[in-house]
Amino acid sequence: MKKLILSLLVLTLVAGLAFAGGSKEKATVVLNKDKPLVFFNRQPSDPTTGVIDMTAMNFNASTYYVGFDAAGGGAVQGKLITDYLTACDASIDRNGDGIIGYVLCIGDVGHNDSKARTEGARKALGTWNGSTDPTVKKEGSITIGGKTYKVVELEGKAMTGTDGSTWNANAATEAMGGWATKYGDQIDLVVSNNDGMAMGCLQASNYPAGVPIFGYDANADAIEAIGAGKLSGTVSQNVDAQAAGTLQVIRNLLDGLTGADVYTKGFTTPDQYGNKITPEVQYKADQRGLFALNAGVNKDNWTSYTEGTRDPGIKQTNAPVKKVILTIYNSADNFLSSSYLPALRYYAPLMGIDLTVVQGDGQSEASCLDKFLNLNSFDAYAINMVKTNSAADYTDKLKY
Ligand code: BGC
Ligand code: CA
Repeated sequence: MKKLILSLLVLTLVAGLAFAGGSKEKATVVLNKDKPLVFFNRQPSDPTTGVIDMTAMNFNASTYYVGFDAAGGGAVQGKLITDYLTACDASIDRNGDGIIGYVLCIGDVGHNDSKARTEGARKALGTWNGSTDPTVKKEGSITIGGKTYKVVELEGKAMTGTDGSTWNANAATEAMGGWATKYGDQIDLVVSNNDGMAMGCLQASNYPAGVPIFGYDANADAIEAIGAGKLSGTVSQNVDAQAAGTLQVIRNLLDGLTGADVYTKGFTTPDQYGNKITPEVQYKADQRGLFALNAGVNKDNWTSYTEGTRDPGIKQTNAPVKKVILTIYNSADNFLSSSYLPALRYYAPLMGIDLTVVQGDGQSEASCLDKFLNLNSFDAYAINMVKTNSAADYTDKLKY
């Protein structure tokens, strides 16, 4: 009997100790300030100078950016356009004045991706004058069929909606209508820094039929429009690699990886679940950023970019499910809503990520911030800001 009482006592003691151990573990709960934080698509940066906001990027050791090579993409877009033009005959100069006139849909003058595309197109066309300001440009030149033409940017516009939202497709429809009336057959080419605005231009009832038009993003409707001969080209910024990349970095951080493992596992080597993103994604230490690469898409290769081509390198894992809150600056943005979000929703469950998505209105940061709530109940945060210089508004909410 004594023995039994003794062993019961020992058992109680051991159980008590184990319990204390357990609750001690609970006490070391990860604070929000130490949780993984990944910015994506809008790189924390100064809207005027484009300088990266490294204070935000160094918020904690688990802060990263995932985007794509914006400068490289601008160059791809520029080359796509000049390759098209140089393969044309003299009829490309619609009014025969020896000038290739074009109009430009800029998007968001304070967004690094927008700036890089303006720069890429202007450099290729020779109209780059060292500034992404819509009004600062110079005359370029291009040789088509042995004849040298001047290249003139007739007008460029940011495309801000009546509600203040940027990259606005309706604003592009309206601007295109105005340009078609104002410039008539002086317009030989339309350049748009994203597909949403390009598709918007094509909606203008007086769009000059047959005038080549280029977008960016390779959204499903744009790819279809290339197939239908309405859009001349677009650039794939590899949305699958970006969406999967955003989630992979978070997964790695939540699995406790540190150092180079964070941006190599699942990228250059398989992760512990055997997953690896197929396309190349480059890491730039000075920006704490991972960048997908771009590819030009036109009538020769559009069939390889049709909807539903997901990365076979990412398969179902048995990773412990973690909760992540993710913001999207504008629920009406064609790229983010019709390309990025479906990709996120496809890859997240495979990687054991339970996503809560909150979307803003594209104009006020509060439209996202007001829904960036219950932060203690999430294991990590993924942020697409309304303005590129708003990172502190989010990190301030995570500072404890
Ligand atoms: C996309 C645009 C999009 C913008 C939003 C860019 O990377 O190419 O289509 O509107 O991001 O931030
Ligand atoms: Ca002309």
